[in-house]
Amino acid sequence: MPAYAVIGGQWGDEGKGKIIDYLARDASVVARYSGGNNAGHTVINDAGTFKLHLVPSGICWPHITNIIGNGVVIDPDVLLGEIRELNLDPDRLVVSDRAHLIMPYHIKLDLLEEERRGSAAIGTTGRGVGPAYLDKVNRSGLRAGELLDPENLALRLPDIVKFKNEVLTKIYGADPVDVDDIFEAASRWASDLAPYIKPAEYFVADALESGQNIILEGAQGALLDLDHGSYPYVTSSNPTVGGALSGLGIGPRAFGGVAGVFKAYTTRVGAGPFPTELDDEIGEKIRTIGKEFGTTTGRPRRCGWFDGVAGRYSAKVNGFDALIITKLDILDGFDTVKVCVAYEIDGKRTENFPIDSALLSRSKPIYEELPGWSGSTAGITRPEDVPANAMSYIRFIEDLLGVKASIISSGPRREETVVLDDIIPR
Ligand code: IMP
Repeated sequence: MPAYAVIGGQWGDEGKGKIIDYLARDASVVARYSGGNNAGHTVINDAGTFKLHLVPSGICWPHITNIIGNGVVIDPDVLLGEIRELNLDPDRLVVSDRAHLIMPYHIKLDLLEEERRGSAAIGTTGRGVGPAYLDKVNRSGLRAGELLDPENLALRLPDIVKFKNEVLTKIYGADPVDVDDIFEAASRWASDLAPYIKPAEYFVADALESGQNIILEGAQGALLDLDHGSYPYVTSSNPTVGGALSGLGIGPRAFGGVAGVFKAYTTRVGAGPFPTELDDEIGEKIRTIGKEFGTTTGRPRRCGWFDGVAGRYSAKVNGFDALIITKLDILDGFDTVKVCVAYEIDGKRTENFPIDSALLSRSKPIYEELPGWSGSTAGITRPEDVPANAMSYIRFIEDLLGVKASIISSGPRREETVVLDDIIPR
């Protein structure tokens, strides 16, 4: 069974880019299924350092076909920037004709809506992702394939822009956007992106039918999922496994495995409840050593201990059958490390992740404290080099989540990886 999903198990930024680059050696296709350029996937290998926002993380392997699926929302200028920077030929990248476009008015609306929310702001990345998905659901979005049909665009765009300008000027008191500027941009996008825009479902189906391995690339993380995450402090798509089916157009029988990527601790960017957050010198230490600053926005990430309640929930809603633990080396040298095993909410203990954000903000973590490890795990590649206490920490997380760990990442480079079990059989 050849489709392997690689999904963020926390609030994003788990290091999926590095892992997908590593696993892509044994695949033929890497297909991204959700989110937009709110994501930032970093890939570091012999060819250099690549900070990818839309292009899938298989791009450094010449044998890989990279697919941007229909579930992704695309800012055409950002995509074209990445295509140019990476010098990508159309045989290396397929962009689904059904993927929705992030238009200039979406970016404006994202920023204006955040301002309007005031103290209730979500802390979005300001890339127009939410408003683009809103239009998709409202059936007023524009899809990549429509760029190739100027007559259709000429019919639809003026009415869409007219309505957006009503909202911009009358609701937000902002300046309108210029329809002619948007037409001009759209014709530029059409000519530059045309060779890449294709019915991506057929590429995915052909690869699956011919038995090739496909990696389904998640963006963000399960706890930012529109349905399963800490609503309303979530993104506007489904990073969980269901999003991979709808965001690429594949069936469940195609799955060979679903791997959950977890940092050895927890981080979150933007607003919203975070029970294990450390607002102290330990949190600061993790942020500094872990270089926890956003790839997309540069914002400092909030840091805390590993949250086993959230992790177990994430494992359940995704059906994880393998764990990938990243950034273990950041915890090297701590005397003790803590793992949250339950929450106390209003005096009652629970092992379940609450639905309500208010309840989640009242959740107090109940910790188990484990001994730290003195040896360095930075850059190790062999299971026997994992210090005994570090392995006990991993085993503790496995037991808590009910899923075996298959890979430990010991640094940002491709080769800084310890394989306990092959995720993709060779
Ligand atoms: P949006 O996706 O830009 O609308 O932002 C919604 C929430 O998701 C905010 O809290 C963002 O910080 C968060 N978010 C979106 N993309 C990422 C990501 O790639 N990593 C971490 N957080 C993200």
